[in-house]
Amino acid sequence: MMRQTIRFLRRGQVVELSSIAPTRTLLDYLRLEEKSKGTKEGCNEGDCGACTVALGSLENDRVVYEPVNACILLLGQIDGKELVTVDDLAVGGKLHPVQKAFVDNHASQCGFCTPGFVMSLFTLYHAGKKPTRQEIVDHIAGNLCRCTGYRPIVDAAVKSCTGKPADAWIAAAKATAVQLAALNDAADVFVGDTSTFFAAPYHEEALTRLYADHPDATIVAGATDVGLWVTKQLRTLPKIIHIGRTKGLDKISDEGPQISIGATATYSSAEAFLGSIDPDIGEVIRRIGAKQVRASGTVGGNIANGSPIGDSPPMLIALGATLLLRHGGNERQLPLEDFFVAYGKQDRAPGELVWRIDVPKLKANEAFRAFKLTKRFDQDISAVMGAFKFTLDGRAILSARIAFGGMAATPKRALKTEAALHGISLDEPQNWERAILAMAEDYQPIGDMRASAEYRLVAARALLRKALMEVASGNSAATRVAGLRGEAA
Ligand SMILES: Cc1cc2nc3c(=O)[nH]c(=O)nc-3n(C[C@H](O)[C@H](O)[C@H](O)COP(=O)(O)OP(=O)(O)OC[C@H]3O[C@@H](n4cnc5c(N)ncnc54)[C@H](O)[C@@H]3O)c2cc1C
Ligand code: FES
Ligand code: FES
Repeated sequence: MMRQTIRFLRRGQVVELSSIAPTRTLLDYLRLEEKSKGTKEGCNEGDCGACTVALGSLENDRVVYEPVNACILLLGQIDGKELVTVDDLAVGGKLHPVQKAFVDNHASQCGFCTPGFVMSLFTLYHAGKKPTRQEIVDHIAGNLCRCTGYRPIVDAAVKSCTGKPADAWIAAAKATAVQLAALNDAADVFVGDTSTFFAAPYHEEALTRLYADHPDATIVAGATDVGLWVTKQLRTLPKIIHIGRTKGLDKISDEGPQISIGATATYSSAEAFLGSIDPDIGEVIRRIGAKQVRASGTVGGNIANGSPIGDSPPMLIALGATLLLRHGGNERQLPLEDFFVAYGKQDRAPGELVWRIDVPKLKANEAFRAFKLTKRFDQDISAVMGAFKFTLDGRAILSARIAFGGMAATPKRALKTEAALHGISLDEPQNWERAILAMAEDYQPIGDMRASAEYRLVAARALLRKALMEVASGNSAATRVAGLRGEAA
C-alpha cells in the first residue's frame, strides 16, 4: 500500500499534507505555514534548544513524549506522531503546570529560550518519574539560556515534574493512543514525483528497492547531520528517503554474547543496551549532543556519516563490532573499522544501506574503558575520543583493541600500540611506556579549532595511561571527578 501524504496528530485532529518540499523543516512549517510562532529559531543547528517541540508516539500502547529540535527535523519525519508545541500548553487560558512553575520561580528573564525549556520540561513532566536534580540538568543540557537563569529554571522543574502528570494530555491519553494507532498504517509514504520527493517506506523491500532505483537520494535517519546540510549549507536535496518508518529497522536485540542494533535505533533507545556492556559507554552516550539530539539521532547515522569525530565508532571498533550492509536483496558483513576507508570515503556502494551493527559483549577476562574529551562537558563534539578493550590473562595483557576518534581522517585503530601492549603486565607501569610512545606511530593528528595536533597526541597518550591505571587498580575514582563503577569519588 502506498500513501501520497504525510499525516500527524495536532491538537486532537489529524493533519494530512499532500504537498511538502522534501527538506521543509518542522520549524519553518510551524512558523511560516501554521503561523505558530511560540516556537523560536535560535541557532538553527540543533545546539540551543529554542525550537524544542514534543513528539508523542506509541510505546507499548502508551503515548510517550520526546523533545526534538524542530529546526533540524524534516517535516515528513513527524508522520504518525503527535506534535505538541508551546502554543498548545495553556488550555482555556490556564497555564500548564510547567509554565506556572516558571512564573512562580522567576525562571524566565528575556524569555527567548523559555519556550524551548518549557517544552523540554513538558516531556520530563510526562516521563512519569520524579527526576533528581542531576536528571533535570541532563534533560535540559540541550537548552541554552544566555541570561544565566539556570537555577530558577531547575527549581521550576523540581516543582513541576513530580512524577504524577495530570494535564490535558493525560486526560486525552486513551483517545490519543487510539488516534496514533490508526495513523501508523503499513503504507509506504511517497510524496512528490520521481525527480523530487519525500519518501518514508514502511516495508524493507520497498526501502531497498527505492534506494537501489534512486542511489542519488539522500538517506535520512534522525537528520541531526542532514538537517544542518539544509539549514547551514543551504543544500538542495531533491530526493529524501527517510528510513525512520521502516518496520523492524529500529530493532535492538540482546541475545547471547552480542547486542544487535538496527540502523534506525536512536541513542535514546540504544543507550541502556550499550550502557549494559560497560558504564563508560552509557556515560559517553549521555554526552552525545543532548536529549533532543539523542531522541532523533541514530547509532547507524553516526557510523554512516563517516565522521572522524563521531563518538560511537571508536567504542564499537574497540569492542570488535561488525556492520551489516544491505543493497537491494543482497547483504554483506564487515568489521566496522574496515568501513572507514579515508576521509569522506566509506566502503558503501551507491544504493547500499547501513542495516545493522552487531556488538560483542565483554567476556569475563575483558576490561573496557572509553573517554570523551571536549571543551565543554555537555553537548560538545569530541576533540579526542578514545576507547580501549584489554583481554587479560590474570594480570597480563593478552591482547588489546584500541580505537580513537579525532586522531586521524577516520576513526582508527592503534595497531602499533596494541602490538606493544601484548604480554605487558598491569603491575609494571614502567613497561607501559613503550606502548604509550608507540601511539605517535599510529597517529599523526591534525590541529583544528577543537585542539592542536600536539594536544591531541599528548591527550591520547594520557588517556591510554588512564585506562591502564584504572584497569590495573580496578578503581576509577582516582582519575575521575566522579567514580562510575560503584566506588567512592
Ligand atoms: C547539536 C548537535 C550535537 C551533536 N553532538 C554529537 C556528539 O556529541 N557526538 C557525535 O558523535 N555526534 C554528534 N552530533 C552529530 C549527529 O547527531 C550524529 O552523527 C548522529 O548519530 C547522526 O545520526 P542521524 O540519524 O541523525 O543521521 P542523519 O543526519 O539522518 O544521517 C547522517 C548521514 O548518514 C547517512 N545515513 C544515515 N543512516 C544511514 C543508513 N542506515 N544507511 C546509509 N546511510 C545512512 C545520511 O545520508 C547522512 O549522510 C551532534 C549533532 C548536533 C546537531
Ligand atoms: S534553533 Fe537552536 S536548536 Fe533549533
Ligand atoms: S531567559 Fe533569556 S536566554 Fe533564557
